Amino acid sequence: MAESSILLNHHLAQTTMYPIGTEISHAKGLYIYDTQGKAYMDMVCGIGVSNWGHGNERVNAAIKAQVDRHLHVMVYGEFVQSAQVLAAQRLIDLMPAPLDTCYFVNSGTEAIEAALKLAKRVTGRTQLMAISGSYHGNTHGSMSVSHNETKKSAFRPLLPDVGFLNYHDLEDLHRIDQRTACVLIETVQGDAGVRLHSPEYMQALRARCTEVGALLILDEIQCGLGRTGSVHAFEAKGIVPDVLVLGKSLAGGMPVGCVVAARSHMQQFTHSPMLGHISTFAGHPVICAAVAANLEDYRIRLAEANVEGKGHYITEFFQAHPVIEGMRREGLMLAFDFPSIDHVNRTLDHCMDHGFIAFRFLSRPNSIRWAPPLNITMEELEKACRIFWQCAEDPSAAM
Ligand SMILES: Cc1ncc(COP(=O)(O)O)c(C=O)c1O
Repeated sequence: MAESSILLNHHLAQTTMYPIGTEISHAKGLYIYDTQGKAYMDMVCGIGVSNWGHGNERVNAAIKAQVDRHLHVMVYGEFVQSAQVLAAQRLIDLMPAPLDTCYFVNSGTEAIEAALKLAKRVTGRTQLMAISGSYHGNTHGSMSVSHNETKKSAFRPLLPDVGFLNYHDLEDLHRIDQRTACVLIETVQGDAGVRLHSPEYMQALRARCTEVGALLILDEIQCGLGRTGSVHAFEAKGIVPDVLVLGKSLAGGMPVGCVVAARSHMQQFTHSPMLGHISTFAGHPVICAAVAANLEDYRIRLAEANVEGKGHYITEFFQAHPVIEGMRREGLMLAFDFPSIDHVNRTLDHCMDHGFIAFRFLSRPNSIRWAPPLNITMEELEKACRIFWQCAEDPSAAM
């Protein structure tokens, strides 16, 4: 194992000096196994990706069947491919009107890029508004509408005509005006440490966008598809966006992003210029087969998962924890606040030692995130809570 790790480090680019470095053998359900046979409870799902556990049978079977049928055959949009058609049908079945058309791409950030371009085309305007604390991805456009300056200053100049509204500030909504092409907002802010927006705020934002003719784009890449308890996080806010952006868990562990909008809007990509958003691998048939399988009977499975009940159990469990200073939660999207970064680091190390994967936030260093599988059993959840309680209570103590 040591030898192969060294080789991996030699030839694979790293994005941190301190990668976790655990060498993975396989993963099933809640657990990831390393090459030494140690099992880890995966309480972050690769940051909200494997929302129905690892090695999901229905998704794996669909992928295998599609691999035998065909892989890539043509750039996006030219041929009719049954996997794409079925994925689109199942996804749109989960949408309220007027969201009736979807465009599958390769990643979350690419979907954000497409959504921003779509807003410019639909409105003929240039100003892009986002929210302080936002994270929308790591390509130039997505980074431009993400807020964390430390992460972007080295890459300037970025997109012009971008503004940030103060988080949850009703007074600030007047800055959205007739110049604004869109307001892009995570329905629940992920990287900012699970920061919630009240229904009142979201409804006022929706109303202001409608009033001035700006598109409201909801980024539900992390918080969508059941993570917060409802299929779409916006359902709990009493609004419908003009554009919805999805990714992460949509394809059950395969790389994907998706833009959903009304057909009349999406048609803008077909002219002036034609091929307004294109990509070789967008809508890849294997990915779409995974999407279709992942979405089968979605509402039924989500209702059975009892996401809110499990989330409530966790917050109750940690209410009296002596070290955790605060928690934020929507469904099974959670942040635990700690007294210091040092405490976070030691807790995370201690968790790994004890076969438990939790993770940090880019923009909220004093906190630890959980995003457990939605179908985690109560027995597994109780065990997870007990381990984390101890790791967080005294990260330096041996258990
Ligand atoms: C809310 C949100 N938007 C966009 C992205 C970017 O998605 P991707 O990493 O697939 O490009 C992420 C990724 O963490 C995210 O959490």
